[in-house]
Amino acid sequence: MVSKRVSPILSADKELVARYFQCKQSPYHAEHNPDGYINFGTAENYLLWDLIAEKTQEVGGLTEADSHYAELHGKRSFRQQIARLFSTRSGVNISEDDIVTAAGTTAILEILAYCLCDPDDAILVPTPYYSGFDYAFNMRAGAKLLPVPCDVSNQFSVSIESIKAALDEARQQGINVRAMLTSSPRNPIGDTLSKNDLQELVQFCEAEGLELIIDEIFADTRTSDEPFFSAMSTEANHVHTVYGFAKDFALSGLAVGVLHSKNKELLEAAQELAHFSRVSNHTQSLVEHVLSDEKWLEQFFQQAKSRLTDAYNAITNDLQEANIPYMEAKGGVFVFVNLSEYLDNDSFEAEKALSNKIFNDCKINLSPGALFHCPQPGWFRITYTLDREQVKTGITRLVKGLKSQA
Ligand SMILES: Cc1ncc(COP(=O)(O)O)c(C=O)c1O
Repeated sequence: MVSKRVSPILSADKELVARYFQCKQSPYHAEHNPDGYINFGTAENYLLWDLIAEKTQEVGGLTEADSHYAELHGKRSFRQQIARLFSTRSGVNISEDDIVTAAGTTAILEILAYCLCDPDDAILVPTPYYSGFDYAFNMRAGAKLLPVPCDVSNQFSVSIESIKAALDEARQQGINVRAMLTSSPRNPIGDTLSKNDLQELVQFCEAEGLELIIDEIFADTRTSDEPFFSAMSTEANHVHTVYGFAKDFALSGLAVGVLHSKNKELLEAAQELAHFSRVSNHTQSLVEHVLSDEKWLEQFFQQAKSRLTDAYNAITNDLQEANIPYMEAKGGVFVFVNLSEYLDNDSFEAEKALSNKIFNDCKINLSPGALFHCPQPGWFRITYTLDREQVKTGITRLVKGLKSQA
């Protein structure tokens, strides 16, 4: 007999993860499995392994020091290297004392939920937003996410007016709103917060007594040459920045997440909670080694950007040729496409039906907009950071499937 509190966990929809593993069981291969699944549904970058393999393989086996306990929120030398990466990115001096690491960005998000919210406290999140936020904030910590609908006619951009309206409404209903959360670059749109956007959000949250959480896991996964404004550069006490090595370094399997904050109380609590999800010392040494070679890092980011840009240009050409509308992205490993003309009707049931059809008939895993609380049905996220031949085959199959639907 399990506890009462796990019943929502048992009944939660686990389709997303199930599809990931279904794709893994019979993956597409041009020669060996041409009818296999093509997974456009998981935000992973498969274009960087040769670069990262070279560097990570320089690290030898386990050292005796790493076989014993070290600082539970991350070894100082590891946090120093992360601080150096963050200082370069943000243009301000970041201290390792303001950093906590844990086993994955999801773990960091949950730590934040636990530290900032009591059960049933709420967090405002502009939509569409990364589906894992619900999981990380709600499942154990019990924080409620309040979706703030963003308008498709305005490129789903985050507006202070809509956040204020959602905040006022929640407060009228007696809900204790504690924070605002978004990602930049944003999953699933790929837009980024400009300096002005960031300043407005920081000021708005300060005036309203809200904490501001910005997830920058895709900070260096950008096709745009525009400068990136890290939330860390604001140096504000109520701004908490989240990072991880799953995307920019394509190391999702290593599970390394990072919190940066200037709030000492929050850091102290987060350090304690990090005990439950420590990053293994060997993994820390490996990532520390990757970060310590500045010259290599600079070249790696250059090559990663050039490969990402080529892949983005190629898929957007495919989409244009297929007359599939999409939202222009500045970052992330995906494009958000509009397939609403292929829905039987304007509903999320019809979106689900189309998603199932594409999965079962075309063996293509796409992420439907409902997962991201997209306000309009018919939008799907396509992850394109796969081998080019595979992407091309996937789009060809998708277009064929859509035509048979039309
Ligand atoms: C915005 C965002 N945050 C967090 C995560 C999860 O990161 P991790 O695998 O490090 O838990 C993802 C994964 O897609 C993401 O897109």
